[in-house]
Amino acid sequence: MYDGNDQKTVTLSTIKELKSKGEKIACLTAYDSTFAYQLDQAGIEIILVGDSLGMVIQGHKTTVPVKIEDMIYHSKNVSSSIKSAFLISDMPFMSFYNSDIALENAKRLMQDGGAHMVKLEGNQSQLNIIEKLAMSDIPVCAHIGLRPQSVNKMGGYKVQGKENREAENLIDEAVRIEDSGADILLLECVSSLTAKKVTEAINIPIIGIGAGSDVDAQILVLYDILGLTPGKLPKFSKNYMTGKNTIQEAIASYIQEVKTKKYPSEKYSFK
Ligand code: KIV
Repeated sequence: MYDGNDQKTVTLSTIKELKSKGEKIACLTAYDSTFAYQLDQAGIEIILVGDSLGMVIQGHKTTVPVKIEDMIYHSKNVSSSIKSAFLISDMPFMSFYNSDIALENAKRLMQDGGAHMVKLEGNQSQLNIIEKLAMSDIPVCAHIGLRPQSVNKMGGYKVQGKENREAENLIDEAVRIEDSGADILLLECVSSLTAKKVTEAINIPIIGIGAGSDVDAQILVLYDILGLTPGKLPKFSKNYMTGKNTIQEAIASYIQEVKTKKYPSEKYSFK
């Protein structure tokens, strides 16, 4: 579809087409209209309003305190300046604890927030929720591997899928999630070999963060790539402001490195 300007609108079909052509897909988070505008102009394909805003914007130690109202507010701000990019919004902690609540909150993210797709951190016990959303024509991205909303249960931020059994569970989970009707899978902090096996096991596009180079798309937190995050960056993240004069140059460099498969090299991946 052509939007009348010089940018094409990215849809779920565009994303599937890029995957089928083997072209890597560049994604970043955004939480406000100004940064969303810059990402959109730079030609980023997917913008995620992640619940990482709980840490990045609100200053919490985890994403657990983020509320659905926060996600709607930031999604609205981001969607207001997007012309081209596909917008995914996170469903925060406890906003999908049963399928009726999930449907209501997904509806709010799409109708009030302007999201094109919702993302939920789930495992096998959320399959019925993915199914319910999919049956209501709500596009779903399921987030597995490291699930920050479950940090208190998982006992910290640990790389997933390193042992054989863990790897098999992740592959099995991914297959069931695809069968339940999810349109995109996101893998966070997963061993590169396991991420490759998951990519071979299912057909829907896979976005990776700390999941190696074999997945279809890469995502990072915008503030990390702009060198704004205090303290040490996670191993998989890269500061693209190094050696650049402007934010626009840094964003363009990230997109170029994803497209040319320069990012993520082994240095930014887990064995
Ligand atoms: O909340 C977020 O920003 C995310 C990404 C880190 C994938 O889920």
